[in-house]
Amino acid sequence: MSISCKKVPFLNLPTPLEYLPNVSRDLGINLYLKRDDLTGLGMGGNKLRKLEYFLYDAQQQEATMLLTVGGAQTNHGRLTAAIAAKYGLKCAIVAIDDYPGEISANILLDRILGADVILKEDDRTRSLETQSYETAMAVKERYEAQGETVYYIPMGGSDELGVLGYYDCAQELTIQAAEMGISDSRVITAVGSMGTYMGLFCGLKDIDSPLALTGTMVMPYEESVRAFAKDYFDRIKERYQLEFDAEKSDFHIDEDYIYGGYNNEVPEVREAIYHMARQEAILLDPCYTGKAFNAISQMVCDRKIERGETIIFIHTGGQPGLNTPHHRMEFEAELKDGIKIL
Ligand SMILES: Cc1ncc(COP(=O)(O)O)c(C=O)c1O
Repeated sequence: MSISCKKVPFLNLPTPLEYLPNVSRDLGINLYLKRDDLTGLGMGGNKLRKLEYFLYDAQQQEATMLLTVGGAQTNHGRLTAAIAAKYGLKCAIVAIDDYPGEISANILLDRILGADVILKEDDRTRSLETQSYETAMAVKERYEAQGETVYYIPMGGSDELGVLGYYDCAQELTIQAAEMGISDSRVITAVGSMGTYMGLFCGLKDIDSPLALTGTMVMPYEESVRAFAKDYFDRIKERYQLEFDAEKSDFHIDEDYIYGGYNNEVPEVREAIYHMARQEAILLDPCYTGKAFNAISQMVCDRKIERGETIIFIHTGGQPGLNTPHHRMEFEAELKDGIKIL
């Protein structure tokens, strides 16, 4: 059975699935890249697939404004701002985060796109999720008092509705892989708030796709990842009456290459970014795709990916994060020797 829900189809799909010959040679695998960084609006990225569904729902509710939450450098916030701009809505992004000292990277793009950015310091007494939600609800009330009809999108767009973006992508990928003769591949994606991974999981399972799936975590969770995944899956199953089940052990999510934090500065991740850029002219980001590509390289060394295996890596976007001040400082320190001033 397949889930059918309405969306505003603003993306130019399918995104390309490209073979990466140079990196494949270096790693001894067959690496393909699903170019979801090319989804279009607002510099692209995975969150746009989810936003097709949220926008439809917001329009049904006659919303005048989209409100979402994340870290200060949230890509999801930037893409929510992009969609709001294109479809004539206001937008606000709430982040429990310090002011980064300058308006750059995603925050700059948020403001160029016309969104309000509301930052609140972490009070460290409760989880970030709780603080984000409470602050967002207080901000929502404030805008509603000014006459707005506010549509709230949860962190990362990862709920039972947002999951449909990558549920669709699973079908798209299965068709592309069959056409390219690589149906025996394993799909690998970064896992943050998990909507992307879970959408792929449900979509692949629902059509009995031959593609396998592995997620690679970019941050530690407070609870067990597999318990979180099972709970998320159960909510989706109930909402859409899915005809298949999943146990915790069905979720292949690797936690070995997190390097202790979210959006942290990691030399190995920067090396992975240089590798991809200098061999394939493809830019990754330091928070998600660079970490995931480093994980793929490490998984080859650790024999979790076999030599000769075919991997489809989802490029989920995020490149504006290269200019995040704390990452940029590390890049500058490593790269400034190549600047020659005559
Ligand atoms: C560039 C990028 N890649 C991957 C992810 C992870 O996606 P998800 O939150 O659906 O796990 C995100 C989430 O914000 C992202 O911005």
